[in-house]
Amino acid sequence: MAQSTHAAQVRSMFAEIAPRYDFLNHALSLNVDKRWRRFVVEKVADCLKRPGAVALDLCCGTADLSIELGSLAPTVGVDFCHPMLKFGVEKVRRRSLPIELIEGDALQVPVADSSFEVVTVAFGLRNVDGLEAGLREILRLLKPGGRAAILEFSHPHLPIFSSMFKFYFTRLLPRIGAAISGSALAYQYLPDSVQTFPDQRKLESMMRSVGFSNVEYYNLFGGVACLHLGDK
Ligand SMILES: C[S@@+](CC[C@H](N)C(=O)[O-])C[C@H]1O[C@@H](n2cnc3c(N)ncnc32)[C@H](O)[C@@H]1O
Repeated sequence: MAQSTHAAQVRSMFAEIAPRYDFLNHALSLNVDKRWRRFVVEKVADCLKRPGAVALDLCCGTADLSIELGSLAPTVGVDFCHPMLKFGVEKVRRRSLPIELIEGDALQVPVADSSFEVVTVAFGLRNVDGLEAGLREILRLLKPGGRAAILEFSHPHLPIFSSMFKFYFTRLLPRIGAAISGSALAYQYLPDSVQTFPDQRKLESMMRSVGFSNVEYYNLFGGVACLHLGDK
């Protein structure tokens, strides 16, 4: 798999934190991340109930969202970080759900155009080397009438809350994350990459400009995270 330096760095960063990833995700978000993933599934459930529907979960990591999707429809998860996938495979094995996890690049998924009713990415699009290319790949993979759901950290919009959250996210979280995961880099990269990621409106307009229709978004927890939806 030919990869850019950025992709190689992202991959090795996730490989390093994979054993502590789930624990830190849930602990640092006080389990709110689980509610966010369930909200994603709620918003794509009508598409997943179509006869023969299959979902694709890009940057699936340890498969938390794939497992939620897999309870409604057959699901394929794709991630390029082997250690993250290994934990995902273990979790999937413990449930008897129709989920297949594949090691691969979310920017070049080896699947024909128009294959999936639903394509999701949770906390993954921020990491890919080329946001627009990522959006185009999602659109390519969706069937006409299918829906994309992009869950990502975003930019809080409530004035006082937003300053308090900024303190937590940029000062406390990197220290706690580094202490528990052993990777200072990964938990400094998290707030840094969120800061440079497009805000809610910018991502909405990017989705429109690559060709998604019915684009809308839902701020979650005051805009700490945001779910963008778009149809093909
Ligand atoms: C923050 S984790 C999110 C994992 C999971 N979706 C979740 O909700 O917990 C980001 C994941 O994206 C993966 N990733 C980043 N860039 C990727 C790419 N170009 N192709 C495939 N996976 C990628 C990383 O390996 C990592 O597992």
